[in-house]
Amino acid sequence: MAIVCKSAAEIEKMRHSGHIVRQVLDHLRTVVAPGVSTMDLEQAADRKMKDLGAKPAFKGYYDYPCVLCTSINEEIVHGIPSSKRVLKPGDIVSIDCGVVVDGYYGDAAITVPVDDSITPELRKLLEVTEASLYKGIQQVLIGNAVGDVGAAVQEFVEGNGFSVVREFVGHGIGTRLHEEPQVPNFGMRGHGPRLREGMVLAIEPMVNSGQAGTRVLDDKWTAVTVDGSYSAHFEHCVAVTKNGPVILTQ
Ligand code: MF3
Ligand code: CO
Repeated sequence: MAIVCKSAAEIEKMRHSGHIVRQVLDHLRTVVAPGVSTMDLEQAADRKMKDLGAKPAFKGYYDYPCVLCTSINEEIVHGIPSSKRVLKPGDIVSIDCGVVVDGYYGDAAITVPVDDSITPELRKLLEVTEASLYKGIQQVLIGNAVGDVGAAVQEFVEGNGFSVVREFVGHGIGTRLHEEPQVPNFGMRGHGPRLREGMVLAIEPMVNSGQAGTRVLDDKWTAVTVDGSYSAHFEHCVAVTKNGPVILTQ
């Protein structure tokens, strides 16, 4: 399958889907607090999506059971919301949300502290992971390679003493949640497919405070760090345009 380039009208539709994802995440950020369960977040997201007229993108995708992925502390991605998982002071939680509106997908993620008591090291992990996403986004230019995005993320993360996850990557997005190309958060400048006008990439660095290794729990979804170190995840959908990168999940 080739990489699909979107028309300006399609990108406007994706901006709409992306805006809804952002509204859901902005709402969830206000719900996060000690004592709140990840199922509470799931239910809040489900209601908000309905209010905004959007369908969830993740529920039913390869039989995934929920509208959100909620990943606490050493969980990297694809944590399944549960009423038994209650947020505690000092925790961080990654919230990944996707919707489809009028046939076009939006996908974004944030990692937030549960309260102000997180350690300075964790605060730095969140800041470096979010900043690495913007380092990647700066490379979303016509004629650049997918490897330029990954290399920019990787250099920034490793320069700050953290590591990037290899087993999970970003992706093209459009009329499907996952399209070509894969967008790794590591790589070599100049390598991989060239970016052309109208491509849309979901860039999603997953950064571990310790080693990069991952494993998947017995629930078949939750990815965790092998060494038990903490992990953060931020994601935006970004269009390649003549005017440079345009973030659609704003
Ligand atoms: N943002 C993640 C991704 O793009 C979430 C997918 S979860 C799934 O891969 F359940 F839909 F697989
Ligand atoms: Co994604």
